[in-house]
Amino acid sequence: MPTANVDVQLEDRSYEIHIGSGLLEQLGALCTPFIADRHVIVVSDSKVADLYLAKVEAALIPVAARVNSVIVPEGEQSKNINQCDQLWQLMIKMPSDRKSVILALGGGVVGDLAGFVAAGFARGIDFIQMPTSLLAQVDSSVGGKTGVNLPQAKNMVGAFWQPKTVIIDIDVLKTLDDRNYGAGLAEVIKYGLIMDADLFARIESNIESILKREQAIVTELIQRCCQCKADVVREDETETSGRRAILNYGHTIGHAIEAVYGYGEYLHGEAISIGMVAEAELAKQLSMVDEAFCDRQRSVFQSAGLPVTCPTGKESELIAAMTRDKKVASGKLSFILPTKLGDVKAVPSPKPDVIEAALRACS
Ligand SMILES: NC(=O)c1ccc[n+]([C@@H]2O[C@H](COP(=O)([O-])OP(=O)(O)OC[C@H]3O[C@@H](n4cnc5c(N)ncnc54)[C@H](O)[C@@H]3O)[C@@H](O)[C@H]2O)c1
Ligand SMILES: [Zn+2]
Repeated sequence: MPTANVDVQLEDRSYEIHIGSGLLEQLGALCTPFIADRHVIVVSDSKVADLYLAKVEAALIPVAARVNSVIVPEGEQSKNINQCDQLWQLMIKMPSDRKSVILALGGGVVGDLAGFVAAGFARGIDFIQMPTSLLAQVDSSVGGKTGVNLPQAKNMVGAFWQPKTVIIDIDVLKTLDDRNYGAGLAEVIKYGLIMDADLFARIESNIESILKREQAIVTELIQRCCQCKADVVREDETETSGRRAILNYGHTIGHAIEAVYGYGEYLHGEAISIGMVAEAELAKQLSMVDEAFCDRQRSVFQSAGLPVTCPTGKESELIAAMTRDKKVASGKLSFILPTKLGDVKAVPSPKPDVIEAALRACS
């Protein structure tokens, strides 16, 4: 199968996303322009390292000057500032310097963490993304948002730091469990909802092949999502014009669910699935979309095996968590809400009782 590449055009920070089958075997060649005769630090998590680290090291060693690997515990709990500190200390011991290159091998946790470690070390060293979860392949590895969580607020400390390249081998999805595969589909469906009605319809009509992980449809979805993200990031790299904020659909409520119920209780994709259901309900209460829109959206999430009901009993904590979200600007909470399939807009400060009613309506 031919590779399907996507360009992220950002002037001197531009890069290529390689998407295809068998790319792990070609990793050395694909990385040569960025790592030849340089020190490489592979950052991975315990689960992904068991599966792929030996192959990755074998591909890099003939090209790089030196290869060190660091393994962090798998899961969202690793995305914290103490973990960054440990990585920086280890990098000093290796030793690493301004020409060292980090390769993030793993899901969104490893990508966000290793990217932020790269952004901070020696005021910024090069890094490469090799995303291995569906969520990371369609979303988190592209666009340069890196960072870690604070106990009170998700992704609160971070930096915009673009990778030099992104290498997406779809074969690694074979070892991803169904729950995490489904969580990645939540972000795929999100792209359809926010900017590509045709993509949404493709998902609706191909859900069985998607759940069977058939190569052709999976490659198509990853390429289309990466293209959507590249387009948005090109227009608004640092989320200043408001365009990039459309990617936050479902995330205001989703991030609050993750924070209130403890990182790890809901997977990120599961939390934003509920978040999109609740935010569509909010849009309905504000007369922006009708019941049919909400039903159509909900049934796609359900057919992908994603949760669609909001847990009850902690509504006021959820609303308090939303106001701590880093999307709050000048004390004002805003939401990205749907207007029709494939289109969303920012809506400032809905009243807390309207938000609470929306949360209760989908509980
Ligand atoms: N930077 C961004 O723009 C952005 C966008 C969306 C999400 N995120 C972040 O991404 C994170 C979620 O990413 P995630 O869902 O990939 O979580 P994750 O990195 O924890 O990976 C999920 C699980 O799958 C395992 N795994 C990964 N690849 C595998 C493979 N090929 N085979 C078997 N197991 C594999 C991991 O070990 C982990 O247990 C969240 O922290 C979220 O905030 C960031
Ligand atoms: Zn997300």
